[in-house]
Amino acid sequence: MTVSVHTDGPVAFVEIDNPPVNAASHAVRAGLMDALAQTEADTAVQAVVLLCAGRTFVAGADVREFGKPPVAPLLPDVVLALEGATKPWIAALHGTALGGGLEIALGCAYRVAVPTARMGLPEVALGLLPGAGGTVRLPRLIGAMPALDMMASGKPVGAARAFELGLVDAVREGDVRTAAHAFALEIIDVDMPVPLSARDVPEFDAGALHQRIVAIEAKARGQNSPKAVCEAVLNATRMDASEALAAERALFLRLKDDPQSRALRHIFFAERSVGKSLPDGSALPLEHIGVVGGGTMGAGIAVAALLAGLRVTMVERDADAVAAGRTRVVEVLDGSFKRGVLSEDGHAHCLEAFSGSVDYGALAEADLVIEAVFEDMDVKHAVFEALDAVVKPEAVLATNTSYLDVGQIAQAVARPARVIGLHFFSPAHIMKLLELVIPVGADPDAVATGAALGKRLRKITVPSGVCDGFIGNRIMSAYRRACEYMIEDGALPADVDQAMRGFGFPMGIFEMQDLAGLDISWAMRKRQSATRDPAERYVDIADQLCEQGRFGRKTGLGWYLYDGKSAQVDPEVTALIEATSARKGITRTPLSEDEIMGRILDVMQAEGRAILAEGIAARAEDIDVVMVNGYGFPRWRGGPMFMTSEQGAEI
Ligand code: 3HC
Ligand code: NAI
Repeated sequence: MTVSVHTDGPVAFVEIDNPPVNAASHAVRAGLMDALAQTEADTAVQAVVLLCAGRTFVAGADVREFGKPPVAPLLPDVVLALEGATKPWIAALHGTALGGGLEIALGCAYRVAVPTARMGLPEVALGLLPGAGGTVRLPRLIGAMPALDMMASGKPVGAARAFELGLVDAVREGDVRTAAHAFALEIIDVDMPVPLSARDVPEFDAGALHQRIVAIEAKARGQNSPKAVCEAVLNATRMDASEALAAERALFLRLKDDPQSRALRHIFFAERSVGKSLPDGSALPLEHIGVVGGGTMGAGIAVAALLAGLRVTMVERDADAVAAGRTRVVEVLDGSFKRGVLSEDGHAHCLEAFSGSVDYGALAEADLVIEAVFEDMDVKHAVFEALDAVVKPEAVLATNTSYLDVGQIAQAVARPARVIGLHFFSPAHIMKLLELVIPVGADPDAVATGAALGKRLRKITVPSGVCDGFIGNRIMSAYRRACEYMIEDGALPADVDQAMRGFGFPMGIFEMQDLAGLDISWAMRKRQSATRDPAERYVDIADQLCEQGRFGRKTGLGWYLYDGKSAQVDPEVTALIEATSARKGITRTPLSEDEIMGRILDVMQAEGRAILAEGIAARAEDIDVVMVNGYGFPRWRGGPMFMTSEQGAEI
């Protein structure tokens, strides 16, 4: 039974059991209607506790049903029916009460939570808005502004904050069933509260609400759902509840069929199923991680591991470099502590768990070592040889290389099958994406250990085969090249960046290069110049910029001219680009934003298809997950491969 009822004296317990997350699928909705009828009819029942089996209260509507025709009873009707109960229902919240789950709780007379419970309306992240009365009931319960903030951000709040907001009536320690039972006995003789949809929205500052709406709409960058949330909250403040509920329903149905929501649902499931097809292997227990190199990436990786409760030893070239690496780690931890994301105890624990050394011997007991030294095969080989001499036989060795051949790096050790790539993104303690690079012949246990580390660090771990740049950097190199062709053919960097921003990227490729620094890729191009095919079209504009010392933001000059933080088009760069086109005999033809984005997408998709054909990525959706989580591809467009399939093309 998905929903069961049993009574204990005057209290009935209605329990939902629909693993894994008790989503409000059809059986749950129908079961709740039956439970309501049963408890209404049972004269011995004076209060009803609604609770869930397993790890969480209802985590939302069943998103898998959204592509299919709706089947009654619909969730908004179930919530309305619960709100009309003549006996008080008490929602007993544990785990995550999200979306439709929280809306069910808002239909109950009371909400009781355990301290670890979290509550939110995250529909916006799926391209939706709360569609079972949340936009109408939440503002009436906690006020228009906090409700808008919760729904527009989609971020859940903890039990303590929920209590402050008035979202829950009590936070009780211990077992949720016992706590809610006790609460039920306390309120059994008290008059029932007025249902939320019969209440008015508490007074609010209309000017401030308007300002917040303007800010949310500006930040939405082409995404429809945040705007719909704003509209629904305004409706809730202006209309009576039944009118506002009807308006919410209409908005919800419109968004459900919007391609943006299809795209966001695609990414939601793609992220959750990524890596499930990895070969079986048993992961080594992880407790102690080694990091070689304490620069940008090494320090970030160390912080990520420390925050996940692992012990970290960092090895650097000399004592000064160890000190510099430690300083980077400590600065990030201090920042997290100051921002309140790390407790005092947690901060102290991380510092205690961190050590630095110049001696590889300090890594003798490490379960897994991640190398993050300079991007140079000889340097990497020297490091892996040194590691091979000291680590325990079962330890996994990983490289964070961006482009180098992981299989070739592995040749430096006696046990090459224990070597994998773990390609983090900067800043490594923040970015969710991790490419798990698997060379041919890798030991499944080593791969499983890499995947287990990704999980422990709460990363989205995408498996990739070995090729130049793996999945993400390979695609980025391809479209960066296409963008360089376009500026030689007639566009300017600002045109390309504007087209990408207009599409929904947070920034364009040239702005991004200026931010990252132009000198690193210049060095790489110089190294590759000996092996480059002379017949291949090569755009040397970036090289010319670097020869002038224009390395991007850090030098105040790059593709743009920087005045403080703002980037300005530099006439000197425009002249240099035009002179380059002339030198190559190219007649420049301006390109529209659509043409620019069209070319970028064509290249991304063609490279994606090649990556699939070569078996570098296992699934098209893995490519989408990489582009969305590592390269700023707008999530609400679902990724380049999803766009291909939406256009009806073969992938
Ligand atoms: N519908 C269907 N399946 C869901 C689901 C949902 N709402 N939420 C999670 N799942 C599935 C996942 O796909 C995964 O399935 P799998 O095991 O087959 O891969 C499984 O449940 C476990 O999910 P996670 O791997 O994400 O587990 P976590 O423990 O890491 O996280 C969670 C749990 C916090 C609940 C997270 O799954 C989550 O955020 N879920 C989505 C919540 C959400 O967006 N709710 C709103 C839905 S829309 C809605 O309610 C509309 C309403 O207003 C009408
Ligand atoms: P970095 O230059 O900031 O740091 C490299 C560190 O390695 C320096 O602190 C240096 O002292 C140390 N080092 C060099 N040789 C060493 C040796 N033999 N033993 C111990 N330490 C040594 O470089 P960054 O940016 O951290 O990059 C490191 C690796 O990560 C490179 O392979 C790079 O391609 C890759 N990477 C970089 C990303 C980025 O955004 N910066 C993103 C993903 C991967």
